[in-house]
Amino acid sequence: MILIDGKKVAAELREELKQEVFNLKSKYNKVPGLTVILIGEDPPSKIYVRNKEKSANEVGLKSEIIKYPDSVDEKTVLDKIYELNKDETISGILVQLPLPKHINKQKVIEAILPEKDVDGFHPMNVGNLSSGYESSIPCTPLGCYLLIKKIEPNLNGKKAVVVGRSNLNGKPMTQLLLKENCTVTITHSKTKDLKGECLKGDIIVAAVGIPELVKGDWVKKDAIVIDVGINKTEKGIVGDVAFEEVSKVAKALTPVPGGVGPMTIACLLKNTIECFKRSVKL
Ligand code: GUN
Repeated sequence: MILIDGKKVAAELREELKQEVFNLKSKYNKVPGLTVILIGEDPPSKIYVRNKEKSANEVGLKSEIIKYPDSVDEKTVLDKIYELNKDETISGILVQLPLPKHINKQKVIEAILPEKDVDGFHPMNVGNLSSGYESSIPCTPLGCYLLIKKIEPNLNGKKAVVVGRSNLNGKPMTQLLLKENCTVTITHSKTKDLKGECLKGDIIVAAVGIPELVKGDWVKKDAIVIDVGINKTEKGIVGDVAFEEVSKVAKALTPVPGGVGPMTIACLLKNTIECFKRSVKL
């Protein structure tokens, strides 16, 4: 079984991006800039944002975190986004989710210029991705996609099963696999015979947020299994895949942690650089 080392692949990607930032700086005398807005005190969000900044600095991007207390009003956040939209030194804007309840997530996502939407959450980018046009691609599914392609460069006609239908993961993952000519089944909590559906997959992407849902006898021999889950349990952090059991049947499997997680951040940096490149082409 191949243990897919997301940490290593992400480090390689960061190395490539670092070189690219260097080249862009030589060519344009400018570096791509990423601004992350963090609202409140959600502990995982604080860790993610810190890691994002550390990685951004490592590859030579200009990066900034803007922090607001939980009590900040929606208008303050929206006005800051409008200001960043106009700032030519900022290539990418990310508002860390989840948001406090009194702030409308959809309004915030739609306030970000699609050209600076490094998350790929703006309806314009969602639509462009599903239509096969150029767009920002949500970082986690993009990271999963790059890991799958490392194991199997030709996905033509493969049967892929996506478990979970979120806007963050399941839906964009489906689009990426479709683009690669996979036959994709998107499953979710109401799917009848989830085990039977998973068993048909040459590729399974589990992004549903249920600890160790995908069992060893749900997986076809030699399938590629990507685990997006990060679930806190009594025995520590586990994914959506029962790792030990599945490792006995799968051809390749991502661990949690150290699989998809590091790729998500590397892909955010990649998206920031892509936004910069599109902006200098205009
Ligand atoms: N919170 C958890 N994952 C993400 C992500 O990919 N983007 C944003 N903006 N917030 C998140």
